[in-house]
Amino acid sequence: MTQSKKETKASWRHYNFTTAGPVDDYLYSMLPKRDDVLAEMEDYATKHNVPIVGPAVARVLQQLAMMIQARTVFELGSAIGYSTIWWAQAVGENGRVIYTDGDAKNAERARGYFARAGVAKRIQLHTGDALEFLSEQKEEFDIIFNDVDKEDYPRVLRLVGPRLRKGGLFVTDNVLWSGRVAEKHPADATTKAILEFNRKLYDAKEFYTTILPIRDGLAVAVKK
Ligand SMILES: C[S@@+](CC[C@H](N)C(=O)[O-])C[C@H]1O[C@@H](n2cnc3c(N)ncnc32)[C@H](O)[C@@H]1O
Repeated sequence: MTQSKKETKASWRHYNFTTAGPVDDYLYSMLPKRDDVLAEMEDYATKHNVPIVGPAVARVLQQLAMMIQARTVFELGSAIGYSTIWWAQAVGENGRVIYTDGDAKNAERARGYFARAGVAKRIQLHTGDALEFLSEQKEEFDIIFNDVDKEDYPRVLRLVGPRLRKGGLFVTDNVLWSGRVAEKHPADATTKAILEFNRKLYDAKEFYTTILPIRDGLAVAVKK
């Protein structure tokens, strides 16, 4: 006798449950008020369509850094420096965050925000290709955060291993790509790149990975 599709579904799965809509509103309503600089950056990003992680994901980033007492963070794709400030606050006075972005105007704006947020001393700015700069690094970071163009994600994965300490975190944003990863036959190159990246990250022996389905999906991988 064949079981009906409904019967084969696991009771512990929350089918059709999504953080979109009212549940998402609830999660955002729980967040503490941000300081003036971060709030201004959120407004700027909204008005000018800058794709920042936003406060719900930024809080996870900061929490992850706190959990492993991170002191060094390499960020690929920093834009106006919103996520950079959250990392900088987490690493403390003696910590260091590397900001990278290909757009010099972004870096200029970010520099102003860093000064006003009181974290400029903790941040090293690099304008240019983030992957190239990462490939030149000789040290092992506590955290590498990946938020560059999505087609480059598989290439980023190849660079990360040797530049992350044991127990360090490789964190990547947008891995659910607005749900397009669940399409049956995704045709666009970006979705294909993210699918390749997610598969390889889960399969990688040197990492233990989970995708947190918050906002657009955040992959958190611990280096074993
Ligand atoms: C999604 S935004 C970063 C947002 C930032 N992480 C935040 O949450 O505040 C992506 C940024 O990466 C930059 N970018 C994309 N590919 C890059 C690359 N290969 N090298 C340097 N910057 C890159 C873009 O200029 C853009 O500003």
